[in-house]
Amino acid sequence: MRTLREVIMDARERGIAVGHFNFSDSTQLNAIAEVARELGVPVMVGVSEGERAFVGVAQAAALVAALRAKGQEIYLNADHTKSIAGIKEAIDAGFDEVLFDGSQLSLEENIVQAKEAVAYAHSSGRDVLVEGELGYIGASSKVLDVIPEGAGLDKTDPEVAERFVRESGIDLLAPSVGNIHGMLKNVPDPALDIPRIGAIAQKAGIPLVLHGASGNSEDDIRAAIQNGVCVVHINTEIRVAYRKGIEAGLLATDDVSPAKYLAHGAAQMGDVVKAKLSLFNTR
Ligand code: G3H
Ligand code: ZN
Repeated sequence: MRTLREVIMDARERGIAVGHFNFSDSTQLNAIAEVARELGVPVMVGVSEGERAFVGVAQAAALVAALRAKGQEIYLNADHTKSIAGIKEAIDAGFDEVLFDGSQLSLEENIVQAKEAVAYAHSSGRDVLVEGELGYIGASSKVLDVIPEGAGLDKTDPEVAERFVRESGIDLLAPSVGNIHGMLKNVPDPALDIPRIGAIAQKAGIPLVLHGASGNSEDDIRAAIQNGVCVVHINTEIRVAYRKGIEAGLLATDDVSPAKYLAHGAAQMGDVVKAKLSLFNTR
């Protein structure tokens, strides 16, 4: 089975992207895995600090390992990890990737801590990828009335990206390029800055990760992939679909079996995952 590094490098060469979806329970995880299997594509799943607190670090790793043991190319990321202790815990638990999120630190402090994450990943004896982040794009995957204060204002400078990558030794970079976490309620999210994505990819020289892709147009996401994005993160859109599906499931039956009503959530969510993976994996 390919490593995550090989999967991402292959996507980069082919001009496509690997889909990354967050999960908060095993129903969501299984729904994501099932769609990726159906389509025959590799997939990344992630748990942020909050999601990890709910699912459990070791539990998340064991659930993904069980899917992998059946031969599926599915990879686990410790999403938006703000402490080195959290990075170490995830690496020790067997995660394939860690995102050290120093986007709200000074550049110097971000470099120092990202470098520490890289050193720990290298000492693990496994090929664990480390992603770094530059520029604040908001903090939560939810439906928004307005763009959160300060989010997206500090777009990533390609020169700064080059220095960050060179000095920290990270494998993947999450830039701020007009993307925001969460999605606006009644209007599309702001447009992505495609020329900036291209300039950052060129200067940084490593694969870029597009965060906050819920609410962005298909054309923007396609253009971002053509300009250096190799991983695309989706959370809010699948959370919305999961919740709507469960609500419909609860209305449809008085059955108290979670397997019955959660299945509606999994089905609605699966449709979203299918559309996204088809988009990301088509040139
Ligand atoms: O890391 C998670 C993603 O960036 C999710 O962003 O909720 O806007 O899709 P989203
Ligand atoms: Zn994110």
